[in-house]
Amino acid sequence: MKVLVIGSGGREHVLTWKIAQSPKVDKIYCAPGNGGMADIAECVDLSVEDIQGCLKFAKEHEVDLTVVGPEVPLVMGMTDAFEKEGLRVFGPNAKCAEFEGSKAFTKAFLQRHNIPTAAYKEYTDLDAVLADIGIYGYPMVIKADGLAAGKGVLIAENEQEARDGVNMIMADREFGAAGDKVVVEEFLTGREASILCFVDGETIVPMESAQDYKRAYDGDEGLNTGGMGTYSPNVLFDDAVLKQRIQEDILTPIIEGFKADGMDFKGVLFIGLMIEDGVPKVLEFNVRFGDPEAQSVLMRMDSDLVDIMEACIDGRLADCDIAWKDEAAVTVVLASGGYPGPYDKGLEITGLDKVEGCEVFHAGTALKDGKLVTAGGRVLCVSALGKDREEARQRVYSQIDKIAFEGARYRSDIAKMN
Ligand code: AMP
Ligand code: GLY
Repeated sequence: MKVLVIGSGGREHVLTWKIAQSPKVDKIYCAPGNGGMADIAECVDLSVEDIQGCLKFAKEHEVDLTVVGPEVPLVMGMTDAFEKEGLRVFGPNAKCAEFEGSKAFTKAFLQRHNIPTAAYKEYTDLDAVLADIGIYGYPMVIKADGLAAGKGVLIAENEQEARDGVNMIMADREFGAAGDKVVVEEFLTGREASILCFVDGETIVPMESAQDYKRAYDGDEGLNTGGMGTYSPNVLFDDAVLKQRIQEDILTPIIEGFKADGMDFKGVLFIGLMIEDGVPKVLEFNVRFGDPEAQSVLMRMDSDLVDIMEACIDGRLADCDIAWKDEAAVTVVLASGGYPGPYDKGLEITGLDKVEGCEVFHAGTALKDGKLVTAGGRVLCVSALGKDREEARQRVYSQIDKIAFEGARYRSDIAKMN
């Protein structure tokens, strides 16, 4: 069969890598793809936001399955457009993608179905938020409602920061229309964990757990990023009681809520959790694989990913037996100097051919005059399996310095336990 993968990051590279292992698949296209996929996929110069262009391509090339990686085309309705033309696509429709497209939408869902989450209020009027400033005390969590490329959450330590933050979102419109509405939340403390789940409208099945490291520097210092590394399984999930609690208090009510609300969610639901004293609360939903969570999690998947995606589309997930390796996986992101602030692009990358015992997934790379160059903030993801987390970690860190480009930088504490 022919598969089209939409997106260009490390997540889409690992998806393509995993899909390529399916005996059913004989051709993969990637739109637009990146500099590292050439040996397993044909990159097509189409933007992820060009829904009509991608649809036309899929029809002309008789694509059997389209897999949508990032949230933007899902929120824009790529799945709806493909389904309308009778094409098979993995990823939720626009109605369900609102769980990522609007934080207020998700909060209302969680509250309606009694799923544990932080207390919140939503606002469309600047003066109304300013009148309520500090309503839950400090730190004050302020979120732009819409998509803001992971940057729309502000944690204000005091009243001045809160006023500045609200003004930045609603008056200066730093995130554009994403800030037409603002969600203010109670600040939760605890440890964060993310769970990726397959969902077919009827059944929700969690994948193996992972932990993401969001801050730019070692010791969780510096600004938030898209994610600087992950490992799987997450140590928090060694706790059987917690696992049970997540199933009963979070996963079951979510799928029941989807059904009660007529949300035919098919695809991946990414649940961000805050866990304190064994009590999990939902921070957010995303409607796609996490990046770089997908790299560590899919390295550990034994089953054919295409089978599972097709089962999600057809509502047969309950019949799927998803097999995982016992081994642990670690992924470390090699980023451009300066990221998540401004950084240079077009710098030559060398040494990839020297890396042994690891998979290197490309995130922000491009081919220029036959040379591999940097093309984004997160440039490459180095992933390895090991009999345990420590072995996987050693494998990654023993190889990562072989890869070089000017300003290359990574966190040295991914998967390191204190
Ligand atoms: P979100 O995109 O909603 O997950 O928010 C991004 C990050 O902000 C999360 O990963 C948390 O670190 C933090 N965050 C979001 N909501 C809260 C909250 N209610 N309390 C504490 N931290 C939060
Ligand atoms: N790594 C976090 C995300 O993909 O949203």
